Amino acid sequence: MYKTHTCGDLRAANAGQTVTLAGWVHRQRDHGGVTFIDLRDRYGLVQVVGDPAKKELSALQSARSEWVLQVTGIVRMRPQGAENPNMATGEIEVEVVQMEVLNQAKPLPFLVSKDEDTEEAVRLKYRYLDLRHERMQKNLILRHNVIKYIRDFLSDLGFLEIETPMLFKTTPEGARDFLVPSRLQPGTFYALPQSPQQLKQLLMVSGLDKYFQIARCFRDEDLRGDRQLEFTQLDIEMSFVHRDDVLAVIEDLFTALVRDVLPNKRLLSSPWPRLTYTESVERYGSDKPDLRFGMELYSLSEVFAKSEFMVFQSVLKAGGVIKCIIVPGCADYTRKEVDDLTSLAKEQGAKGLATLALTIDGVKGTAQKFIKPEEVEALKTITGAKTGDLVLFVADQKAVTNKTLSALRLHFRDRLKLANPDVLAFAFILDFPMFEWKDEEKKWDAAHHPFTMPKMDDLPKFETDPGSILSDAYDMVLNGYETASGSIRIHRSDIQQRVFQLLGLKNEEIQAKFGHMIEAFEYGAPPHGGMAPGIDRLVMIFADEPNIREVIAFPKNQAGRDLMADAPSPASDKQLAELQMKLDLREEEKKKQG
Ligand code: AMO
Ligand code: AMP
Repeated sequence: MYKTHTCGDLRAANAGQTVTLAGWVHRQRDHGGVTFIDLRDRYGLVQVVGDPAKKELSALQSARSEWVLQVTGIVRMRPQGAENPNMATGEIEVEVVQMEVLNQAKPLPFLVSKDEDTEEAVRLKYRYLDLRHERMQKNLILRHNVIKYIRDFLSDLGFLEIETPMLFKTTPEGARDFLVPSRLQPGTFYALPQSPQQLKQLLMVSGLDKYFQIARCFRDEDLRGDRQLEFTQLDIEMSFVHRDDVLAVIEDLFTALVRDVLPNKRLLSSPWPRLTYTESVERYGSDKPDLRFGMELYSLSEVFAKSEFMVFQSVLKAGGVIKCIIVPGCADYTRKEVDDLTSLAKEQGAKGLATLALTIDGVKGTAQKFIKPEEVEALKTITGAKTGDLVLFVADQKAVTNKTLSALRLHFRDRLKLANPDVLAFAFILDFPMFEWKDEEKKWDAAHHPFTMPKMDDLPKFETDPGSILSDAYDMVLNGYETASGSIRIHRSDIQQRVFQLLGLKNEEIQAKFGHMIEAFEYGAPPHGGMAPGIDRLVMIFADEPNIREVIAFPKNQAGRDLMADAPSPASDKQLAELQMKLDLREEEKKKQG
């Protein structure tokens, strides 16, 4: 080894020892006759000092930020008053006796020693330097610890980690597939798995009973703060289980993980709350509620059943709803502040936002002119609103009303700091609808994926009312994010056929896409189910980061590019020829690429 200790190791107890260290120059200071360098490696920082006038130590002075040094020296206590309590090694320093410059460094595009607000594009282009930052290293270490804990925990429960192929066939999870052209069978394509969904179900048919995998998934979809083109799931599947057996494994795993891996976090509640999809959407306007704070949505459709306000009347007549949230202590918002809230509501698709401020001098706000005293009283009884509060009303179709009030609720979470960042509010959302109607395409789509088991009691509704069929699908949510989905699967090929048929898949199509699944289920498929927590999202929340890019070593930017390696990039003519492929780009694309 180039070193006897790491830069984070040394303490007062090491005083007097001769040590060899190797690392990067984090900071360098000259103090006439002595040079101080903070030497850095993954494990920490340590101060090394020496007199650059000595020939063998002259490099102390010439060394620049991020040069790579090896130093040998004697550990000594720092003089009184020179200790640094903010540094783990702050009691000591290393008096250099001998040193070697292992490598020089050009000036970096940004400093590692300062947490500057470096532009995202620069950070991603020089990702290998960005990853020198303590924050990024902490995130990757946390990610490692989380994954290792998961592996150990599940192995102890008898789960087997089994790898499944990347080069496979379409596995529908609702996104677009990434295709890989085959050279051996020109004109045909593999699809990268959107998840190992089919494969893990087939492993259950094989009798492997308890499977998991830290699995890479690929989805060609628009990127967001919590979405990448490739991401990692903890993929789980179990045989002979009911829903609650799967949920128990997940809840036990993450409860123990928080206890053992995240000492600075605590669970909001144990056992975790369980809400049905309908209840969650009614109360929070969302199927991924942040449960760290209240501010629930209240339905006021009945209170306003006889309202003379035209907007409310017409919304109710059209089958819509009137709902509100109570913003605590914000009755004194200015006109401008209320206008900004209205703009926020309109961005979510609402036609307007009615407001009522409950002040000591009576009610104010845009709803004042139409709301009757008895309606105010009823509202207070239902919602518990008090003097000093601001009531925000939205009247619209259910989906728009819920979406808008949910967004406002989260707006106030951040603005009024209603959610404790150290609290983890895990919950399960249950009983999702099986199908959703796609209006543009005029067809039913699977709300989760087509292998999800419908509730047995709802089977007769396939013919009469598919929209009301519930499924045995469930999500794990955490602090306002969907962090996992799963379901009990269909293990009978007759039910699977009915689902495919309702989704409008023709028989030939079913055979071509899923023939292997249907056939497999005819050879004795056990009842089975599973779940897939998103590792990136979980670690992002555990690390208090706003974006999953911060917990992925080499992520893509918002446009799906790897700025460091400059990918994706064109294929050579030779590569295309081998694949027997020709480009047929649209004009605008040709121009863009020059
Ligand atoms: P689903 O598609 O809901 O379910 O994905 C499960 C979890 O994976 C994470 N996730 C993502 N993370 C980052 N970037 C993305 N683009 C992305 N897409 C999804 C989320 C999500 O909750 N096969 C099923 C699981 C099952 O039924 O067992 C599936 O993939 O945290
Ligand atoms: P108006 O009488 O049309 O000026 O509307 C009175 C108030 O009701 C205004 O503050 C509007 O923003 C609000 N409003 C309009 N449409 C809706 C709606 N669909 N839901 C809630 N408030 C609305």
